[in-house]
Amino acid sequence: MTQDELKKAVGWAALEYVRPGTIVGVGTGSTAAHFIDALGSIKHQIEGAVSSSDASTAKLQSLGITVFDPNEVDSLDIYVDGADEINRQMQMIKGGGAALTREKIIAAIARQFICIVDASKQVDILGKFPLPVEVIPMARAYVARELVKLGGLPEYRQHVVTDNGNVILDVHNLKIIDAIDLENKINSISGVVTVGLFARRAADVALVGTANGVVKVVK
Ligand code: 5RP
Repeated sequence: MTQDELKKAVGWAALEYVRPGTIVGVGTGSTAAHFIDALGSIKHQIEGAVSSSDASTAKLQSLGITVFDPNEVDSLDIYVDGADEINRQMQMIKGGGAALTREKIIAAIARQFICIVDASKQVDILGKFPLPVEVIPMARAYVARELVKLGGLPEYRQHVVTDNGNVILDVHNLKIIDAIDLENKINSISGVVTVGLFARRAADVALVGTANGVVKVVK
């Protein structure tokens, strides 16, 4: 199976977690796009969705799914999204698609985070995938210097402006042993909006696409 077929398999498998009549938290990226297609097939059974990016909002609306502002929603049953890396503790690196801040907000609102990934995203130690950090534009150089002090090699993601009007620094050279500690440290740098480490709020369930089918991992 191709990587995209594995992504499709987990995107559709996540439908199992969608309860009728609810508002569903929806992520961003090529795996989440498969989930949105799947959601479209049951759109009359759900109330709607909360979306983590303009791109996902456009896709949801094109399928006739109502998109709610997170401020209109008290709580969400589930948030379904992909990841760039996931470890055994279900901690993740996210933000390859630059949507990390809205993803983190919706993950915080949701009772359950369902992570949908192909098996290539599973790692023992997070950090091979460059860690995305969303930064207020005027703080870019300062934040980059602070990230170097933490042992990283930050790289400005050229020509990318997030949905929130900010920039992304991708941090290379990290071997993340204590992900919660690093998440706290990077989040406390002035000018950082969000770091793409999802350790304090890890996934609850991972659906992993493998050559032998979808494997469910529970925290
Ligand atoms: C977007 C994300 C995505 O979930 C992550 O980049 C994985 O993307 P894909 O499903 O395309 O492999 O965090 O900001």
